[in-house]
Amino acid sequence: MEKKKIIIDCDGGSDDAMALAMALNDERYEVIMVTIVSGNVRSKQAAINMRTTIEVNDTYRPEVYVGCDEMLVRDWVGAAETHGEDGMGDLDLVDESLIPDEGHAVYKILEALRNAKDKQIDIITLGPLTNIALAIRLEPETMKKVGRIVVMGTAGLGTGNVSPAAEFNIWQDPDSCKVLLDSGIDPIVFVGWDACLDEAMFEEDEIRKISQGSQIGKFCIDSNIVLLKMNRERFKRDCLDMADPAAMAAALYPECIDQCEKYYCEVELNHGPSYGGVLVDRYHFSGKKENAYICSKLKPDLYKKYVMDMLKRNEE
Ligand code: RIB
Ligand code: CA
Repeated sequence: MEKKKIIIDCDGGSDDAMALAMALNDERYEVIMVTIVSGNVRSKQAAINMRTTIEVNDTYRPEVYVGCDEMLVRDWVGAAETHGEDGMGDLDLVDESLIPDEGHAVYKILEALRNAKDKQIDIITLGPLTNIALAIRLEPETMKKVGRIVVMGTAGLGTGNVSPAAEFNIWQDPDSCKVLLDSGIDPIVFVGWDACLDEAMFEEDEIRKISQGSQIGKFCIDSNIVLLKMNRERFKRDCLDMADPAAMAAALYPECIDQCEKYYCEVELNHGPSYGGVLVDRYHFSGKKENAYICSKLKPDLYKKYVMDMLKRNEE
């Protein structure tokens, strides 16, 4: 059976690495390219981190194209407190000589969609939506050829992780999220940060199992050391909220989705306490047409089994 083609757009942090490895090891899909945007770290470092992940995973090697280094409007902030200065735990895990391929990510995304049949390619985003927004602005009709856009982003139906209302990817570039929401692309699926919390959180024994299961599993766990230390403070135990792997699992293995409904969603651009949050109109106060799905909960057993199966796959 023909593999489903996917483009992964990411900001090259330690949970992006785990999500990328999962996708590369799911033989039902073909990652036709990895595109890079600044987010957790600047785009140059993010590209090095993802090229290194592809090498450590040691299966096939999709091209890696760098896109936007700056956000659409606001200043880049980054997330060194969560992923380390290099985005991968500051353990010298990455090979700084691994440079990206020639070509701008936004033009490469548009070229791929232009040359594909309608709905042949899905896009999965794991970072700020800057590349996607620029592609929409350049060729809105080409971007409507995409099958699905699955976004790791929003607080879902829960709390944010950079403020009570906002999740990092959207908060880092909220203007780009508005461009996507206004684009008419359908379906857009936001996998909220809440989808990777509670029973979907990876606990100490599960972390150990992934780390001991394969070379790529150890690489992915080691690179999340900064987040693990942060969580020891925040949650008072060794645990990992793996936002990008949750989004990747929802995209590639939808059987693990527990709650996912379509709502009218609007991003807050006013510089107040909810700045960068995505307001989900659950009870139709606005009377406006639903424009995006919110995936807010996964089935923990199915989700975790899928992640573990994908991370040990290249050792079988
Ligand atoms: O809020 C979590 C998201 O922000 C993840 O994609 C993480 O990698 C960071 O980009
Ligand atoms: Ca990310």
